[in-house]
Amino acid sequence: MIISAAIAKGGTGKSTLLRALASVALKRGYAVTLIDGDVRQNMSRWAQMLKEAGNRPETLQLVSATTPREILEAAELHNGDRSVVLIDTEGTTNDNLMAGLFASDIVVVPIFFALDDVTAAIQITDHYIPLAVETRGRPLPAVFVLTKQTIIDAKARALSELRAIIQANGTPIADHALHNRVAYRDLQSGQTLYSPDQPDAKAIAESEGVFDDVLKTFTEAMRQAA
Ligand SMILES: Nc1ncnc2c1ncn2[C@@H]1O[C@H](COP(=O)(O)OP(=O)(O)O)[C@@H](O)[C@H]1O
Ligand SMILES: [Mg+2]
Repeated sequence: MIISAAIAKGGTGKSTLLRALASVALKRGYAVTLIDGDVRQNMSRWAQMLKEAGNRPETLQLVSATTPREILEAAELHNGDRSVVLIDTEGTTNDNLMAGLFASDIVVVPIFFALDDVTAAIQITDHYIPLAVETRGRPLPAVFVLTKQTIIDAKARALSELRAIIQANGTPIADHALHNRVAYRDLQSGQTLYSPDQPDAKAIAESEGVFDDVLKTFTEAMRQAA
């Protein structure tokens, strides 16, 4: 299965979400390939930090892919039965973003509750995904994942309009969300969700939930397309 995280906006939590999904997939025994299509190469750095900390599973591969062609080739090469390929791109509209969409079985769109982020998410579902679908001629399901959620976000009246925009879009929203947690910030060091001496059980539970939500959305979309 090939999953890309896409939104033409930095800082929404794309790379963090992919690291959380990678952690879960590795834990569940999948062979995981991270395709780093971001010029800043933050995924590559994470893989290196994991290695240095002695936390890098043998089943994790990192491919640095800086051009659309490299992204497409890596996705095809590493896709397999018990594998999860995760494509990370930078938060801007470019050919790498399109290549990630083109190659994917499903797109996860991390949404942070802010107007810019919500409009950028909708740009993906309403503009870029249809473009990719037209070019490749097969459906491309997407799922919104709320990221960096705080208790305030769940209640704030000021966010109700943003919530209404998201819901009106028609793209499924994952039942589980990634809350604002230190455990996710720690994914910028040589840690997976499971490697710390005292792993954050809540972060693990919600990330496993998001992983299942993504698989469920994909299965459902395929059933509907059939
Ligand atoms: N759920 C979360 N909880 C706490 N911090 C988060 C969470 N998601 C992302 N962050 C932090 O927000 C910043 C941007 O996240 P990142 O995943 O790098 O975004 P992107 O890849 O979309 O640019 C990073 O400092 C990251 O650690
Ligand atoms: Mg990133």
